[in-house]
Amino acid sequence: MKILRTIAEVRAAVRAARAEGETVGLVPTMGAFHEGHLSLMRAAREQHDLVVVSLFVNPTQFAANEDLSTYPRDEGRDSALAEGEGVDILFAPTPSEIYPDGFATTIHVAGITEVLDGASRGAHHFDGVATVVTKLFGIVTPDVAYFGQKDAQQVLVVRRVVRDLDLDVRIEACPIVRELDGLAMSSRNVYLDADARVQASALNRSLDAAEAVFASGKSDGESIRAAADRVLADASIDVEYLELRDAETLQPVDAVERDALLLVAARVGAARLIDNHLLRGVAS
Ligand code: PAF
Repeated sequence: MKILRTIAEVRAAVRAARAEGETVGLVPTMGAFHEGHLSLMRAAREQHDLVVVSLFVNPTQFAANEDLSTYPRDEGRDSALAEGEGVDILFAPTPSEIYPDGFATTIHVAGITEVLDGASRGAHHFDGVATVVTKLFGIVTPDVAYFGQKDAQQVLVVRRVVRDLDLDVRIEACPIVRELDGLAMSSRNVYLDADARVQASALNRSLDAAEAVFASGKSDGESIRAAADRVLADASIDVEYLELRDAETLQPVDAVERDALLLVAARVGAARLIDNHLLRGVAS
């Protein structure tokens, strides 16, 4: 596996692969790899000749009060894990390689970025994500880019950028990878102390409870949300949002008719965690 730091080096490697007729898969990441990241790398490895993983803690998607300076970073560990998955290129640029002096462009997706995490974290968050991902697509020119479904809103934002800007890349969303007790894997789980780690498992349990109510035949949002709410309250979780939304548009829904997402965000100990379950509607 090669570790490349510059855009020019990545372009040259991709050009050489393309000249051989090879396909290219990209896994954009901010590092601190866990099984979720590795599952994306495996999907890319299965489907492509050249697998590029980007490792860049993107400053523009963090607000001033967020964890940019403390975000877990361990390039040595990450590169060993990526190499173990058969990744060909780890693209680990410096901030100034991505955002050189005079950088002045922002990709802003209206609408779906204004709710949920966009409302909680601020508009800059998805602007930062959309901008860096668009840059990565321009640098790597992947056939397919792989994202985790845990960040369901991010997946929808990236899909919208690709559609609106006619970018020639397919977005593949891979299933959420969970710990044994159901906690969705996240780089931020390292912030949880022992008590918070136990408490955090209530997030997925709450979504399971809601899904069980839905499976029992109740498709109204009130019953579905109430089931999740009870579990979160029992675990004394400080909920930021718990919302039932259309799985494509993220519009709020009163009942599950088309596919819907039940999404939760919460502060647990020192971590802000998110999770979601897809509820399959009969009309989708
Ligand atoms: O999901 C992430 O790790 C980041 O938001 C991404 C897509 C790599 C952009 O910085």
